[in-house]
Amino acid sequence: MSHQTIATTPIAGQKPGTSGLRKKTRVFMGPHYLENFVQAIFDVVGAAGKCFVLGGDGRFFNAEAAQVILRMAAANGVARVIVGQGAVLSTPAASHLIRLNQTDGGIIMSASHNPGGLDEDFGVKFNMENGGPAPEAVTEAMYKRTTEIEAYQIWQGQDVDLGRLGRQHLGAMIVDVVDPVTDYAALMESLFDFKAIATMFAGGFSMRMDSMSAVTGPYAVEILQNRLGAAAGTVINAQALPDFGGLHPDPNPTWAKALMDEMFSQAAPDFGAASDGDGDRNMVVGRGIYVSPSDSLAVLAANAHLAPAYAGGIAGVARSMPTSAAADRVARALGVESFETPTGWKFFGNLLDAGRVTICGEESFGTGSDHVREKDGLWAVLLWLNILAVRKQSVAQILAEHWAKFGRNYYSRHDFEAIASDKADAMMAALRQSLPSLIGHQIEGMQIAAADDFAYTDPVDGSISRAQGVRIVFADDSRIVLRLSGTGTQGATLRLYLERYVAGPEGLDLEPQQALAAIIRAAHTLAGIESFTGRQAPDVIT
Ligand code: G1P
Ligand code: ZN
Repeated sequence: MSHQTIATTPIAGQKPGTSGLRKKTRVFMGPHYLENFVQAIFDVVGAAGKCFVLGGDGRFFNAEAAQVILRMAAANGVARVIVGQGAVLSTPAASHLIRLNQTDGGIIMSASHNPGGLDEDFGVKFNMENGGPAPEAVTEAMYKRTTEIEAYQIWQGQDVDLGRLGRQHLGAMIVDVVDPVTDYAALMESLFDFKAIATMFAGGFSMRMDSMSAVTGPYAVEILQNRLGAAAGTVINAQALPDFGGLHPDPNPTWAKALMDEMFSQAAPDFGAASDGDGDRNMVVGRGIYVSPSDSLAVLAANAHLAPAYAGGIAGVARSMPTSAAADRVARALGVESFETPTGWKFFGNLLDAGRVTICGEESFGTGSDHVREKDGLWAVLLWLNILAVRKQSVAQILAEHWAKFGRNYYSRHDFEAIASDKADAMMAALRQSLPSLIGHQIEGMQIAAADDFAYTDPVDGSISRAQGVRIVFADDSRIVLRLSGTGTQGATLRLYLERYVAGPEGLDLEPQQALAAIIRAAHTLAGIESFTGRQAPDVIT
């Protein structure tokens, strides 16, 4: 084993986006690419004497990258790394291990729901000692460091045996290889009424959990089948594959179509769920009924007290700005605070740390609580199961009662993918310029009451994030939001978010695209989507 200082030069474009640095796998495999970024992380957060967690979603290049990161950690003087067996950890499990072991943070290798493989995507992100994604000031500092880097430190020598549980050494650095599931499963057991859920399964309750050939397979089998007694075969696509079977491991009606088809068939189980590449996202589906993520957040907030961990009530609820306001209505009814943050889980961290909120969620199939500092797919599934076990009602009944009480926020997101970046930028620039003139304007028989570019002042540390998405709000609280994705690796993805509130009791059972038709037309007209991008229809509707 020998310590090496390798000369390098800055590589352009190592700027972390909504959730860490994501690039094509081949880019990450290029000379010095991973190394430069990892050195920038250590240069910014410090390495000597520190303890970190390391793991990833098991996608192509995960294991090789882990060996590089370990050798660099050792050469930078890190004291100890806790790594998931096989270099695998779901994102929420990594967040939990950081907190449980009070480490100085962790490195997570994932491109979340993006496809994996040599010609697909890879990613690296740093989570802080609170278990949450690094805030913008830190990722900016890392990016800045990548623009001036001249050398990185690495050990040359043999690989760590990541298949073997227990303690090993790499130079002076301790490497503890841990089972990825054990601590996480124990955490879930401490939050929920496993007895009540097990009784429900024993009584014939049926479920389908689609792990989408991604990281949650072993977690879901252990928790749902082994500990809660769900029937063998409840978890499908349970084996994690480096290319996720060639599919998008993204739990939404488009990519989890097989699950949707089963849930809408004659033989549908009582409850269906899916999770994404790294296990932080979830989709829940009842028999014959889809639960939009915004509604799921609202239902979970309204019913969280039915689970032991939240029996004393919740402190508050936070949602990302494009997420529907359904959760705000629940917060108001509960008499707790609600917050509207920019897109990306990192914006929830301060609110969770300060105890201002207990439950958070995003329309992009992310929900979670203060048990970790990431969104958590299986956590959401288990909270739903806990609620179903206590209320002894179907998902459809629970939703119907929720809408009857709070009204319904019809909601949809339309994604236009792989648009040429200059066209997407031009469209957003023109739209931003037109905002002041839109206020008071009539379109599709609706009046625009407000139009702005969302800016957020963090209530805890006062930091300001600007240009987080264009909002056009109508007099009846209906809303159009447009922003460009910060996680894509190819061109630009335009996200168009649509929302309309119906108080009821009439009109609570419309088909969402129909309920939103006028708002969709207005959005196309106001933004000039077709004239700027040439696109008439979205690629994905959720
Ligand atoms: C997307 C989602 C966002 C989520 C992020 C990471 O980011 O929209 O809610 O936090 O992935 O999972 P975007 O591509 O829109 O920047
Ligand atoms: Zn994810």
